[in-house]
Amino acid sequence: MKTAQRLLIVDFGSQYTQLIARRVREAHVYCEIHPPTRGLDWIREFAPIGIVLSGGPNSVYDEGAPGADPGLLDLGIPVLGICYGMHLLAQLSGGGVRRSSEREYGRAEIEVMAGRGLLEGFPAGTKTPVWMSHGDLVDVPPAGWRVLARSANTPVAAFQHTQKPIYGVQFHPEVAHTPRGAEILHNFLFGICGAKPTWTPGQFVQNVVAEIRERVGGRRAICGLSGGVDSAVAAALVYRAIGERLTSIFVDHGLLRAGERSQVERAFRSELGMDLRVVDASELFLRKLADVDDPEEKRRRIGHTFIDVFEAAARDVGADVEFLVQGTLYPDVIESFSPRGSPSATIKTHHNVGGLRPDLPFELIEPLRELFKDEVRQVGRELGLPEEIVRRHPFPGPGLAVRILGPVTAQRVATLQAADALYLEEIRRAGLYDQIWQAFAVLLPVRSVGVMGDGRTYANVVALRAVTSLDGMTADWFPFPHDILATIATRITNEVPGVNRVVYDVSSKPPATIEWE
Ligand code: XMP
Repeated sequence: MKTAQRLLIVDFGSQYTQLIARRVREAHVYCEIHPPTRGLDWIREFAPIGIVLSGGPNSVYDEGAPGADPGLLDLGIPVLGICYGMHLLAQLSGGGVRRSSEREYGRAEIEVMAGRGLLEGFPAGTKTPVWMSHGDLVDVPPAGWRVLARSANTPVAAFQHTQKPIYGVQFHPEVAHTPRGAEILHNFLFGICGAKPTWTPGQFVQNVVAEIRERVGGRRAICGLSGGVDSAVAAALVYRAIGERLTSIFVDHGLLRAGERSQVERAFRSELGMDLRVVDASELFLRKLADVDDPEEKRRRIGHTFIDVFEAAARDVGADVEFLVQGTLYPDVIESFSPRGSPSATIKTHHNVGGLRPDLPFELIEPLRELFKDEVRQVGRELGLPEEIVRRHPFPGPGLAVRILGPVTAQRVATLQAADALYLEEIRRAGLYDQIWQAFAVLLPVRSVGVMGDGRTYANVVALRAVTSLDGMTADWFPFPHDILATIATRITNEVPGVNRVVYDVSSKPPATIEWE
């Protein structure tokens, strides 16, 4: 998208790089993350209003550690180096970086020595808590640099070039554990780079709608809806741009949560007035899954069947369709620097069940390619999508098939849908839905003994899962108040036929995953 102002974040492999980007975006400034391999010419062309050099797991003096061109300091563009980024600035300026004898991880306090520029609003002599995570430090500022802050173990906790708008901090202003970190980033963005807070959902919608209109002209597009937030927002955005020349296709594979299909029909057909084609393929999917036990085989069959059904539906829309809308998000397209290779790439393709054949005769429209998930939600609200869709927990493409362990049958799908619906209803009633990244029920492939009235039962076990997470890569189990768990368990065993036992999953990821499979 053509954006007037943008900030460049150079990724040296820190676990916090995306967090820096999100903090910058939250300040309504557009930014992009790029690997350290981008040269000076590329940077000049990109014309950022400022550059942030991220942290990273290496030491700048390691052999093969990613570096930066010394010309970076002469571009006339403000630079902020964070941790590893700061060490690079020191190194480029002829200063020394050394392994610290006292490694500093976690909470620390810096004492401000000069409350200007980056530390505007932090008077000299005051202290402020920050988050440190490093084994290296800068002892003495290089010639031409001055110290802005120090901590007990770090003589140069923040420094500044005396002639140029270039700063470095040893601590991490982007993490929540640095309580006034946002102010420091704001000082850099607005005070030093001269940014204007123009990156807003309203502005985004306006720009992207104009772009899509221009690109598509009088031609036609299709979009696959999954019921999830991303495809919903992508479709609504393109619909805003080209109206009835967009047709959306929703494949009901029979493995959806209770009521999901009618929710999608209501939101898109009744409320938005979109041309929505619902393909009921549940019998076909169940047939393909009959007697399949192996989770990978389930995924494979669902993936292939999905592609066949979607492509047939797409052909039915008409031969004149030229565009396919997809809800790809920014974290999927960031070309990150990864010092240890990127396992996330393989995890994602494995999850990408909605992926279509690469030789489909469509041009792609990916209107969310620049957005983080929280921004997608804001854009969804801007477009008037209902909260139940905008705030919804993630849901895997293969649906309940990954939550029914063992063979998938119509009966088992119905049992799980009923338990899951009760579970989510109680979570919403308790006002906890938005505190949880993802909550769902799992139907286990074992039965256990129970007692009902005077009789013995031998029935299904339902496992409940609820986790908190930032991005699905790591997760913690959610600490439900016990009375709420008790209500949920009682309702499920009373109201869902064939279930006599409920257990709660208290595993984190890693070592477990979020889904059971
Ligand atoms: P795991 O189970 O690997 O899941 O911890 C991480 C996140 O990914 C979701 N997930 C999927 N999403 N298609 C998707 O679109 C899939 O096949 C798939 N499998 C897992 C999972 O729900 C969690 O949010």
